[in-house]
Formats: sequence, C-alpha cells, structure tokens
Amino acid sequence: MGYSKTLAAGLFAMLFLAPAVLATDPDPLQDFCVADLDGKAVSVNGHPCKPMSEDGDDFLFSSKLAKAGNTSTPNGSTVTELDVAEWPGTNTLGVSMNRVDFALGGHQPAAHPSPCHRDRHRDERVVRAGETFLIPRGLMHFQFNVGKTEASMVVSFNSQNPGIVFVPLMLFGSNPPIPTPVLTKALRVEAGVVELLKSKFAAGF
Ligand SMILES: *[C@@H]1O[C@H](CO)[C@@H](O)[C@H](O)[C@H]1NC(C)=O
Ligand SMILES: *[C@@H]1O[C@H](CO)[C@@H](O)[C@H](O)[C@H]1NC(C)=O
Repeated sequence: MGYSKTLAAGLFAMLFLAPAVLATDPDPLQDFCVADLDGKAVSVNGHPCKPMSEDGDDFLFSSKLAKAGNTSTPNGSTVTELDVAEWPGTNTLGVSMNRVDFALGGHQPAAHPSPCHRDRHRDERVVRAGETFLIPRGLMHFQFNVGKTEASMVVSFNSQNPGIVFVPLMLFGSNPPIPTPVLTKALRVEAGVVELLKSKFAAGF
C-alpha cells in the first residue's frame, strides 16, 4: 500500500523509514457509493451513499489541482487536498489526490496515519522532474526542495481520506499539550529544550 508522487518540476530529496507492518484498506464492495457528506447513518468505511448525480458531477472534479498553492508559509510549502470531502465519488473507492507546491528550500515533514513502524532504516532519493516515487503507507517522510527553482508534485493516495500527521506539530503543538516530562524523557533532552520547541508551535503552523 502507498501512494506515488509524480513531480511536475524541480528537485527533492526524500527520506523515510522502512515498514515493519503493512495494512490495506478493504477492497470496495460496491461499484460506487457517492458520499452523502451530510449523512448521519453509521457507515463502516467512509460516508453513507446517496444517489449519483445525473450530470456526473460526483465523479468529475474541476481544475483545483491545476492552481499552484501559496508557498509563503513557515515551511515553504503548501498542500492542496482533493479527497472525499470535496470529491464524493471517491467514497469507498480508496483513492484521493493532493498537489504540493514548494518554494525554494520548502519542506514537508509528515506521515499519513497507519500501523506502527519500528524499523529505523532510512531511504533517501533525489527525485527529478517527471519522476515518480512511492512512499508506503504510514511511513514518516519528508520532502525538501533542493532544486534551484520552485517545484510542484502531484500525489495520489490509495485512500479516500488518507489523513496527515505533521510530526513537529503533533509533538510540540498538540492541544492539550503533551506533558513536558514525557517529551524530555522521550527525546532525551532538558525541559528547556522542550519548552523552546513548544513555544515555536504554540500557535500551530
Ligand atoms: C501568500 O500568503 C502570504 C502570507 O499569508 C500573503 O502575504 C500573500 O499575499 C499571499 N500571496 C498570494 C498570491 O495570495
Ligand atoms: C505548511 O504550512 C502550511 C500553512 O502554514 C500548512 O497548511 C501546511 O499543512 C504545512 N505543511 C507542513 C508539512 O508543515
């Protein structure tokens, strides 16, 4: 399981940890199940179904991913998400897409929720324009624009709602916060270091 990244331009270094455990979304049991995003019924995987629109709008999405996101952010990158929340036809089909834009030096430290991984193996690649790269589901990874221009990539997921965990924000900007003594023990540093990092993420990103 995983998702591929096809680069439209630029140059990235990518890093991730290898899996100890892999899991998959269940295969679809219906041909389609257009998401009723306001539906209240309990659903095993995703949203309840609604009748398909006659004009096919549930399946066709507009040009959202054609537009570059604003990369004037603290991390020099921005994610444009296209998942079941805006693309109801993907409900239960286990697919979605993102676009990620990077300024010079922009980066993304993230992981998509999944099983636990205990292996410390690291794999790193420079990905050039036009190349495709696969990151197995749930692995912690980052992208860093090491090129001399801005860069963009298109990401496809094998989940209709892959979620995302920004590791620094989760550790130092959660609400309520992770107690400092927990982080000092986990990270093997003094409390002052943890407090400094918490101050950087107190307002989120
Ligand atoms: C991008 O975001 C920055 C910071 O929020 C803002 O100052 C700037 O006007 C934005 N640029 C565009 C083109 O929207
Ligand atoms: C980068 O910053 C933007 C806006 O501040 C945020 O929307 C985005 O999720 C951030 N990405 C990461 C990986 O930190």
